[in-house]
Amino acid sequence: MRDVIIACDFPSWEKTKRFMNLFTEEKPFLKIGMELFYAEGPQVVREMKARGHKIFLDLKLHDIPNTVKKGMRSLSNLDIDMCNLHAAGSIEMMRAALEGLTKPDGSRPLLIAVTQLTSIDEERLHSELLIEKSMDETVMHYARNAAVAGLDGVVCSPLEAAKVKQACGSGFLTITPGVRFEDGDVGDQKRVTTPAKARELGSDYIVIGRPITDSADPVAAYRRAVKDFLD
Ligand code: C5P
Repeated sequence: MRDVIIACDFPSWEKTKRFMNLFTEEKPFLKIGMELFYAEGPQVVREMKARGHKIFLDLKLHDIPNTVKKGMRSLSNLDIDMCNLHAAGSIEMMRAALEGLTKPDGSRPLLIAVTQLTSIDEERLHSELLIEKSMDETVMHYARNAAVAGLDGVVCSPLEAAKVKQACGSGFLTITPGVRFEDGDVGDQKRVTTPAKARELGSDYIVIGRPITDSADPVAAYRRAVKDFLD
């Protein structure tokens, strides 16, 4: 269940394929974001699935319930393993999304909510979005809404994982980006933890991009993350 997910933040299938071809033994869980999906379309998902990878499709849907339900229905036909939406779209929208994702046999991919984007700080939350509650209260409230709607978990910082589980139940999943190796570059991530620390803090899935994709030896970097996080 717990796993390391590699963020494939590449602009084209060509570059993605070059990266994937490095992995001759493992079949890592891969995340496809907007950049790659909008450039290459659903075919990139089919190609990755055909090669035996699990897929987290990170498209963060947010629209009226009926539109999200139908969008999710299209995504569920792609046989993905995990996808996400914005909890800000309401409990009704999240329930509609679940309905759209569920196949006639009752199976469906994991559905994960984004609470507040990490690019929004407390100042903007108050002055621009006019949300008066603190960031922490807002994030936890949105996480509880996601749990009420029946979603499987949220994207959050490893530092918030324990609190999310306290608020939403221990089985509620935490998918955590912002992971860096102890001796690595932090880049633009503000609050980072190592894979081992993320495990200690209770993350279910860690999402790692550049520390693996920009590494001189991506396979070794992936193996290091897996060892630190899963062993
Ligand atoms: O390269 P890096 O390890 O920073 O990549 C992290 C991935 O997780 C990126 O695809 C980024 O968009 C995503 N992400 C994030 N922080 C969030 C939500 C998603 O870094 N709060």
